[in-house]
Amino acid sequence: MPSAGPAPVRGVGAVVVAAGEGHRFGASRPKQFVDLCGMPVLAWSVRTLVHHPGVGRVVLVLSPPRAASPPDWLPDGVLVVPGGVFRADSVRAGVEALAGSVETVLVHDGARPFVSAELVSRVVDGARSGPVVPVIAIEDTVKRMDEGGWIEETLPRERLRRVQTPQGFPAAVLNRTHALDDAGAWEARDAAAMTDDALLCERLGIGVATVEGDPANLKITTANDLALARAMVETGLIAAGK
Ligand code: C5P
Repeated sequence: MPSAGPAPVRGVGAVVVAAGEGHRFGASRPKQFVDLCGMPVLAWSVRTLVHHPGVGRVVLVLSPPRAASPPDWLPDGVLVVPGGVFRADSVRAGVEALAGSVETVLVHDGARPFVSAELVSRVVDGARSGPVVPVIAIEDTVKRMDEGGWIEETLPRERLRRVQTPQGFPAAVLNRTHALDDAGAWEARDAAAMTDDALLCERLGIGVATVEGDPANLKITTANDLALARAMVETGLIAAGK
């Protein structure tokens, strides 16, 4: 009998957060719904996760009005839930929707369309032993400035990293960091400042490992980022979506 390829890794769920308004983007609709070479920005990563053999369940978090009438491009089986005021609230809604049905949870920003299947696999593998984030080395010199715009300090860049998504977690860890009835988690929580999910682990003293990120896994924040993403598809650097 021919081999059907590697057996699917059971028990991995992905939460894609896309409930933000994207004010920095400056378009009439949030950046994740803007067209990127034939499909919305958000559809790219949702499809990659749905088709990944290691991911068994995908939850998509949308703003309450959008969750009430989900987009027509949504692949079968994707569960849509309404998000909250801050990103952390939206992640929590997605994690709750998985309701303990998986052992490992990936959290991905819908604003990163070009997540590759290889990167998803790296994060899934890493998350079996604990929280893990994909990282990229920093090539620029990085400085911190004061409130007046004057340079205060140059940071040694050797150990600085840019952090991407998907970030991977054993479900039990993510459930704990988002458990608002846990006094420690509640104290560590500052929803407005939580730009990623590893931050709560750091605050609670839970170790976070790293895997190699992907320079092509860009985050679309400004119109410039979208132009770059379109150029990456048009030049063939990223395979056009189907
Ligand atoms: O604002 P930022 O670009 O950091 O948002 C990262 C991701 O979190 C985006 O995909 C955005 O749609 C999502 N988000 C969310 N709910 C919010 C705010 C942001 O799902 N309340």
